[in-house]
Amino acid sequence: MKNKVVLLFLGCALLGYSQKKESKNSVKIKPKAEFVAELLSKMTLDEKLGQLNLPSSGDFTTGLAKSSDISKKISEGKVGGLFNIKSVEKIREVQKLAVENSRLKIPLIFGMDVIHGYETTFPIPLGLSCTWDMNLIERSAQIAAQEASADGINWTFSPMVDISRDPRWGRISEGSGEDPYLGSQIAKAMVNGYQQHDLSKNTSILACVKHFALYGAPEAGRDYNTVDMSHIRMFNDYFPPYKAAVDAGVGSVMASFNEVDGIPATGNKWLMTDVLRKQWGFKGFVVTDFTGINEMIDHGMGDLQAASALAMNAGVEMDMVGEGFLTTLKKSIDEKKVTIERIDAAVRLILEAKYDLGLFEDPYKYCDIKRAKTDIFTSNNRIEARKIAAQSLVLLKNQNQLLPLKKSGTIAVIGPLADAEENMSGTWSVATKKGTSVTLLNGIKEVAGKSVKVLYAKGSNLDYDATFETNATMFGKTLHRDARSKEELIAEALKVVSQSDVIVAALGESAEMSGESSSRTNLEILQAQKDLLNALLKTGKPVVLVLFDGRPLVIQDENNTVPAILNVWFAGTEAGYAIADVLFGDVNPSGKLTATFPRSVGQLPIYYAHKNTGRPLSNTEGKFEKFRSNYIDERNEPLFPFGFGLSYTSFDYSNIKISSDKMNVNGKLKVTVEVTNTGNFEGKETVQLYIRDLVGSVTRPVRELKGFQKINLKKGEKQTVTFEITVEDLKFYNSDLQFVAEPGQFDVFLGGNSNADKKVSFELTK
Ligand code: BGC
Repeated sequence: MKNKVVLLFLGCALLGYSQKKESKNSVKIKPKAEFVAELLSKMTLDEKLGQLNLPSSGDFTTGLAKSSDISKKISEGKVGGLFNIKSVEKIREVQKLAVENSRLKIPLIFGMDVIHGYETTFPIPLGLSCTWDMNLIERSAQIAAQEASADGINWTFSPMVDISRDPRWGRISEGSGEDPYLGSQIAKAMVNGYQQHDLSKNTSILACVKHFALYGAPEAGRDYNTVDMSHIRMFNDYFPPYKAAVDAGVGSVMASFNEVDGIPATGNKWLMTDVLRKQWGFKGFVVTDFTGINEMIDHGMGDLQAASALAMNAGVEMDMVGEGFLTTLKKSIDEKKVTIERIDAAVRLILEAKYDLGLFEDPYKYCDIKRAKTDIFTSNNRIEARKIAAQSLVLLKNQNQLLPLKKSGTIAVIGPLADAEENMSGTWSVATKKGTSVTLLNGIKEVAGKSVKVLYAKGSNLDYDATFETNATMFGKTLHRDARSKEELIAEALKVVSQSDVIVAALGESAEMSGESSSRTNLEILQAQKDLLNALLKTGKPVVLVLFDGRPLVIQDENNTVPAILNVWFAGTEAGYAIADVLFGDVNPSGKLTATFPRSVGQLPIYYAHKNTGRPLSNTEGKFEKFRSNYIDERNEPLFPFGFGLSYTSFDYSNIKISSDKMNVNGKLKVTVEVTNTGNFEGKETVQLYIRDLVGSVTRPVRELKGFQKINLKKGEKQTVTFEITVEDLKFYNSDLQFVAEPGQFDVFLGGNSNADKKVSFELTK
């Protein structure tokens, strides 16, 4: 006992703690710079390298490496943080090891992929982005932070802000779609939601923007594949959301797996030091992705020692899982390949983050066992999640106002995704508890109430191929494959349909068909489900397709044959309620696409802000023109453009005006448009403003989103929506990578999607 007291005292003295205790765990400490410098001066090289080491707890693992014997390493001061460990009790225990057993008693940081909520799960990020509502998005991150922090987590590997214009890439589900402007606003909202401008609270957590950089543009849409892109495109289209996160004060950045300009991001000094730190002024620390350093061996950058030195010298501070820093940097220092100053700088950043999180004052700040019992998956959080989820759904088609459904008669709910509890939360929902998500079937039953008879049949498996289904339902996201034959399953569905007035077909992707390492070459609904859908359509009963997906799918066939399509992504634990709220019209859908829906895979990559080329088509009907930029077998335009989404009501845009047809570089313009709700329901509309720069020193996109406002209009209500344009909205990176606005002519378009055709023009003068 006596020894323990002496040890504790020694530890406090070593750490520079003053002896006056604030509370049971909390102590008052010196200002950050002084505190960290003092601590650093006491550390051995081994202890310093330990702070740079981030093993996975092994609760869930991805990639190849596994760190063994973690507790021994923690006691030896060889671990700086740990991730993917769930439960406050476990985290408390591990923290105890660090602060009681290691020589310097430096607390650990605890990370997790809290991507779209914690136990209360929100829509996958792509779905969330379709709300176009920054307050809701920020709120979702704030709730996620509140729940995660109540369970011991103080660092999330989110937001993922990788722009993607290629839905073959499965991780398009984890980002906010194709647009840098919208993506930047969302990046900021997410960082603010997690960090709440104040990391000293025990309800805010450190954010980590990822994956820096360009991870969303792998060749052929294949995950982890090579990225090769011009600097102009990087700076104009792919970098803005990362920069927005940095500007919002994000505490950490995760390096991407891919190469950037021929050098893997993890070892890319231009990216990590010149751009991130020098140009953008990033002050936090950079962590690798899972075994990112080790993977540089396969990239062809040398052995583990060379790769580790490359990463450290590039400006990377923390090594996720691979232990390259821990095991090789000492040798590199001896061989003068890495300086001790660089190591000190890296350790300083990690210690500063721990300081900012308040862990030196109270290592158990996030380990309040009581909070874990009261603050997670609360009924209030679930109510908010249900509202947010409903806003993320996108109505793609609604012929003859088939929707909303009446709360009467008999509804047949059919499909492999209708009663699929494990699938509702979508990919990267590691904290979601089994059994807590609301299925579509249950949501419909509850929202419809007693006056509606709801019948159900599975109708088909996800796919005819059982192996495919296994690969598409990993991590416990099973669809409980049905052993019956195709014919038996369809026959059962048709029997149910024969007793019903309307069919709700729940089809599409399973949760793990998108996300990491889930690239696809075929983006159509799988054949087993297509066969089921055709059988349902043949009955002549009205069919509503509730389409689950983690990416834009190719649904030309369904768009031709099915009268109503509601795209629902994976909307989280409350998905079943939210979808039913929209199906029955308790909530009028207002989601708008943030990634283009192609007509065919051959169009990929596809995005609205493309360049005009020297040979654009001269017709708008999609007719083939020889020697123009088009396809002999497909139209150029997508099936559904960026920004598109229907409502149960309709909106009319009129009277677009601009305050002047000239603006100088210090000026401002006002653009106004009248939006009228001309339909029969109250509804929300996202009014979008696009700008085209007609002549530039480099070619410019045919239009770019530069503003949006989500408004609510009662039936018959009219509102004048006003946007302000300043020179900032006209700037872009030129071929010298200077961020400039060039005088000349600009067109402004306003409307409800990226095809907006209400136009005004102005000239930017010197
Ligand atoms: C993913 C990251 C994730 C990390 C930790 C990697 O495989 O690319 O997005 O944060 O694992 O789980």
